[in-house]
Amino acid sequence: MTNKKIETTSTLTLYSWTSLPHDVQELVSKAKAATENAYAPYSGFMVGAAVLLQDGQVYTANNQENVCFPVGVCAERILLGYTHANFPEIPPIKLAIVARRASGKEDYATVTPCGLCRQSISEYEIKFGLPIELYMYMPSGEVLQASGIDQLLPFKFEDLNK
Ligand code: THU
Repeated sequence: MTNKKIETTSTLTLYSWTSLPHDVQELVSKAKAATENAYAPYSGFMVGAAVLLQDGQVYTANNQENVCFPVGVCAERILLGYTHANFPEIPPIKLAIVARRASGKEDYATVTPCGLCRQSISEYEIKFGLPIELYMYMPSGEVLQASGIDQLLPFKFEDLNK
């Protein structure tokens, strides 16, 4: 007897900088600037995130580490927690993420949201019924785009009653 296979596919799009829409270039630039205030004395991995809310507001945040390592919080969760705490009725629609090493101002690193952040992004997508477009800056200067968290978190946990 063969068991049924359940398969999924993910599609990401790699944009050159110049092919990005202007508003996304601005969002990524703000995430880049937000790396400056990252508090990452333990990892030296400075992450900045910028979110566009549906009403046009843009906010930024960065990772905040702690000497007790698990207490540290990623840039994405600080940011989405802040915007949802202050604007609980306004959906986040685009999220840009940039990472660089503390060793050099232009020493960018590849970054995609960690598992906890993927689950957190998923929560806000589910709450508002809208995907959050993700833009991840690459050291090449290109930007990797996911149309929503499903592209990064297939088979996610989303309903206590299913
Ligand atoms: N980090 C983020 O802030 N966002 C990510 O998407 C990946 C990882 C942080 C957590 C920790 O402070 C440091 O980067 C190294 O993992």
